[in-house]
Amino acid sequence: MEYRKLGNSGLRVSQLSFGSWITFGKQIDVSLAKACIKYAFDSGVNFFDNAEVYALGKAENVMGQAFKDLGISRNEYVLTTKFFWGIENRVNFKDTLNRKYLMQAIDGSLHRLGTDFVDVVYCHRYDPETPISEIVFAMDQMIRDGKALYWGTSEWPASAINEAYDFAVSNGMHRPIVEQPQYNLVVKNKVETEFAPLYQKMKLGLTTWSPLASGLLTGKYLNGIPEGTRASMPSLGWLKEELMAPHFQKTTQELKKISDRTGISMAHLAIGFCTLNPHVSTVILGASSLEQLKDNLDALKYLKQIGEIKKDLDQL
Ligand SMILES: NC(=O)c1ccc[n+]([C@@H]2O[C@H](COP(=O)([O-])OP(=O)(O)OC[C@H]3O[C@@H](n4cnc5c(N)ncnc54)[C@H](OP(=O)(O)O)[C@@H]3O)[C@@H](O)[C@H]2O)c1
Repeated sequence: MEYRKLGNSGLRVSQLSFGSWITFGKQIDVSLAKACIKYAFDSGVNFFDNAEVYALGKAENVMGQAFKDLGISRNEYVLTTKFFWGIENRVNFKDTLNRKYLMQAIDGSLHRLGTDFVDVVYCHRYDPETPISEIVFAMDQMIRDGKALYWGTSEWPASAINEAYDFAVSNGMHRPIVEQPQYNLVVKNKVETEFAPLYQKMKLGLTTWSPLASGLLTGKYLNGIPEGTRASMPSLGWLKEELMAPHFQKTTQELKKISDRTGISMAHLAIGFCTLNPHVSTVILGASSLEQLKDNLDALKYLKQIGEIKKDLDQL
């Protein structure tokens, strides 16, 4: 496992990491979480991703309990959470980055995770209704309070990241160091185009999500939607629609041809593609079983070979 700098910070994160969206607290209970976290950790993974909203707080509960039961020292891993949607159905606590919400939400997450601090805290989406100054002040305060060590954004427009960075620098506050965008063979634009000026200006780090486009790029949806898969979940109708879009389907079929030609699985090609981007600090893997996680971590074995045919993947 290679460890890469997280943006313009001194923190190093494993090139592959493990996240909990849809899985922890739903498909994955504490027992399976322990098995997955142990396997990932023993394989060199040191970055574990979470968010307040995942399973409405249960994903944090499950991850916190799993780390506690495993007895892995807090020094050994990097833990994250994210805020925006909220888990309380009342004014000021939903779809916002207002200071009141942020300062209270971090305490809830720390409690559920069973820790005194997270290593990285993200603003999970951009909130145009709250002034950038208020957001930066709140994130800076969280760090000064010792409740987080670094902060970043997720799915923010480059212009807003730029504004937050400039405001933090000119006011001597902690700067955002990392963005968490979707990045995979069907969604490339933000990472490859929109953020380019920020790599130059602020050495923006990236912790990228959905390397398999929710499983699409394994080829599991090439002949319909199997029962028990993510796209079959009734609550994720919007995702099913997205995955079935013609552009996504066509790219998946083309990826299969490259897989058939090279003998490297579609999943390994898809994960390798993300990992080979030098701007990516870590590729956050998702898995609903230990077998999937093992398979996905194996992508590193094929990285050199994937590098040799990277231009074919770039053209998809
Ligand atoms: N910041 C954000 O807004 C944001 C958004 C989304 C995700 N994330 C983070 O990124 C992490 C990864 O995202 P993701 O879960 O969407 O990743 P992904 O790798 O694109 O999808 C993971 C899902 O694909 C299926 N899968 C994975 N490996 C497989 C394999 N080898 N064979 C067959 N199916 C396989 C599983 O679903 P099924 O078995 O259920 O079909 C699994 O849960 C999340 O856990 C979260 O931490 C962040």
